Amino acid sequence: MKTVLFATSEARPLIKTGGLADVSGALPAALRELGIDCRLLLPGYHAVLAALDNAQEVARFTGLPGLVDSRLLLGAMPDSGVPVYVIDAPAYYLRAGGPYHDAGGVDYTDNAERFGLLSRIAAILCTAESPLEWRPDLLHCNDWQTGLAPAWLHFAGHPVPSVMTIHNLAFQGIFPPALVARLGLPPESFQIDGVEYFGSLSFLKAGLFYADRITTVSPSYAEEIRQEPLGMGLQGLLTTRADQLTGIINGIDTADWNPAGDPHIGSAYSSRALTGKRRCKEALQTDLSLEISPLAPLFGVVSRLTSQKGLDWIIQVAPGIIDRGGQLAILGTGDKAIESALRELVAAYPGRISATIGYDEGLSHRIEAGADIFLMPSRFEPCGLNQMYSLRYGTVPIVHATGGLKDTVEDEVTGFVFHDASAHGLWLAIEQALALHADKGAWKRLMQAGMSRDFSWERSAREYLNLYEDTLAKRQA
Ligand code: ADP
Ligand code: GLC
Repeated sequence: MKTVLFATSEARPLIKTGGLADVSGALPAALRELGIDCRLLLPGYHAVLAALDNAQEVARFTGLPGLVDSRLLLGAMPDSGVPVYVIDAPAYYLRAGGPYHDAGGVDYTDNAERFGLLSRIAAILCTAESPLEWRPDLLHCNDWQTGLAPAWLHFAGHPVPSVMTIHNLAFQGIFPPALVARLGLPPESFQIDGVEYFGSLSFLKAGLFYADRITTVSPSYAEEIRQEPLGMGLQGLLTTRADQLTGIINGIDTADWNPAGDPHIGSAYSSRALTGKRRCKEALQTDLSLEISPLAPLFGVVSRLTSQKGLDWIIQVAPGIIDRGGQLAILGTGDKAIESALRELVAAYPGRISATIGYDEGLSHRIEAGADIFLMPSRFEPCGLNQMYSLRYGTVPIVHATGGLKDTVEDEVTGFVFHDASAHGLWLAIEQALALHADKGAWKRLMQAGMSRDFSWERSAREYLNLYEDTLAKRQA
């Protein structure tokens, strides 16, 4: 086991819409620390090409059915130096909006082709047809955007095994059946034991069906997706493949997220020297035009604004938080209805609630550092990273008992975990937190317990390495 190709549609620091980018930015580097030559494969969006202006052309792909011609470039990730193959296909990837949809939030109509190309090239690089000398021993795919790659490997005679990681089952990459022929997939692949999903082509189902192993990003989510409702239609397949399904919790980048040396925050601190955290709180209140009040419990939220994340529950409990003397600092972007509900809240509680609509990495660090309590009441959460950032920053998380939240936060030891999936359930946990916040000694113990937990990538990377080795060994047996 020496080489792994890690195919993904986003990777920090080049391009990020959510946690997948954090994982893709950190896990390959952690695997390389363990002696694996892990390399990334990414689409050449504008931001990727701009950051990798030294990347060299190493191959060309022409005449792939249904897909535009492209060049393959090789560069190195800015911070970690991890080698990254970039697919340069301007017609697909140089767009004004984000990686998946336009500036108005509408999915690009050719996403099947855009990510069909990513999947196809991932598979080709694992076969004897690859134009590269470098050859992976295993292909690691992530989410639906790379889901067709295991299918292509299957139809190429299964030259190397593949692992398919589910970061979020809510996104499945479902397209009209005509795409099967257009992308040149064999007609026999379009069946229940194949890429077909209720009469359509599903990229994620293809990956889950054809990959040698399936992983997801926490042990609890690996259990939850084998049933309704969190199986989201794929629970049958995931139950059938339960023996090949493993949950491995994500790590966090402990260099990026380190309150003792974070360039985004004004005052450094650690679990033994917490004064800096009080300064960060004051700076955040100043920045966000909140009343300067060292004693007001300050609640932070950094999130994609979608129903997954339970923002509606936060909106419902917000007046209660203010009544109890608290403050709320929200950063997020997404659903337009949630964005406008947040603007209304700010208008109703000036100086007490702040909502920054947008994507702002620096502010996300300053909220983690300056808040006392972090709210993450997700309806479901495959892993979740912000609760771990919060623990490391001594910002006590309140989370719903689901997926990775349940696996990383210990109720009344490092945070608060509520089971009743409703605004009321969230409110009861908030009351519990406020009661403890009033007890300085108990609160400090809670903060310090969270700050002492180890969420570094090394442990998770070792679990992936074991899984890769086991996958290869089973194949060779
Ligand atoms: P998901 O991938 O489902 O959005 P995660 O908790 O795994 O959830 O990861 C979200 C990542 O995106 C975190 O690194 C978080 O800090 C970041 N993030 C989310 N929204 C914003 C935002 N508006 N500005 C800056 N960072 C954000
Ligand atoms: C997804 C999930 C999130 C997870 C992230 C990285 O976006 O929603 O829970 O942390 O992927 O695996």
